Amino acid sequence: MKQIIKKFIPVIVFEWRANIRDWRGLMSDTATQRSRFAKYHSRPNSTGRGQIETQIMFHTHQIEKGLSHENFRPGFGKGVLKAMATLLTRLQQTGDDAANTFVYQQAISALHEYVKRHHDIDYDLTYMRNMFPDDLWNAICNTDVKLAGVLTLGRTDKVNNRHVDFKTLAECRYAIREYTDQPVTKEELDEAVDISMKTPSVCNRQATRIYEILNPQTIQTLLDIQGGYRGYPTPPALVLVTSDIRAFMNHMERNEPFVDGGLFSMSLLYALEYVGLAACPLNAMFSRKQDEQTRKILNIPDYELPVMYIAIGHYPEHARVCQSQRYPAQYITTTID
Ligand SMILES: Cc1cc2nc3c(=O)[nH]c(=O)nc-3n(C[C@H](O)[C@H](O)[C@H](O)COP(=O)(O)O)c2cc1C
Repeated sequence: MKQIIKKFIPVIVFEWRANIRDWRGLMSDTATQRSRFAKYHSRPNSTGRGQIETQIMFHTHQIEKGLSHENFRPGFGKGVLKAMATLLTRLQQTGDDAANTFVYQQAISALHEYVKRHHDIDYDLTYMRNMFPDDLWNAICNTDVKLAGVLTLGRTDKVNNRHVDFKTLAECRYAIREYTDQPVTKEELDEAVDISMKTPSVCNRQATRIYEILNPQTIQTLLDIQGGYRGYPTPPALVLVTSDIRAFMNHMERNEPFVDGGLFSMSLLYALEYVGLAACPLNAMFSRKQDEQTRKILNIPDYELPVMYIAIGHYPEHARVCQSQRYPAQYITTTID
């Protein structure tokens, strides 16, 4: 019976029915996704441990970035320190074990490095001391935990990158934000993109698109719009990774542009490391205005979604990098036997 009905109803009707189903699915699934995100993401007044930890990690990273700057600015980050004092106190209130958590220890370690760096140059830290209650200040001054701070990488450490094993390549890659003045060539970028083409994608649909930007003025204009790279010299090259929405087939694939684009981006970061270029992933979390401005400059079609930027350059003689220590693997792993 179904076959007979199908024979007399034009295909276009079935296509319309599928379209309507997909549209309804898109509306309802994005609404569920939106409310889940709204419910759980970290807000300034969050009281849950996970959300407080997120804000502490954000500020820990700001301290590490400030300490790693080539042009170190003594007394930097007063707003960050103030926020840390509030957030660490709030974290303590989430339970007796708070002080043993990775995030707490890492934050204390970063603050310790801040104090040490300023003591080394006899910089007066009264402003900082006045922000923290006694117990936190004592923890900051006396900790011997080493979970944050700055590392120095040498250019010579990277010359052999085409021959090192994957574990070493992955473990020694760091986000580098300051480069030499040497231009990056299209050929150098092309080699890394070429290697990254082996990245898997859903049904091999290969939605990722790459914009290689080599013009210094355009790079600086784009980074001014992006806003997360302030205080660093213009990098010699910038790549924007985007994803072509036309490669996706229904509402259940709505997040896949970012999954596939994210996978490609990580391949590209490793490929850049392999060819001996230094790089820093940068967010493309644009407001509507930033999105419009960026699209206009790069002539990005409406059907592409920005995934992320990567700033690229040649390794300086010595690069000061944030340690950005990771959780132990067992912390993020659930095994179902
Ligand atoms: C999607 C994404 C967005 C990022 N955005 C920025 C950014 O806007 N500015 C910045 O300085 N670093 C940015 N980073 C770099 C991270 O801070 C860095 O990768 C992280 O601290 C881990 O350090 P590592 O890359 O040295 O291992 C971003 C990284 C990723 C993956």
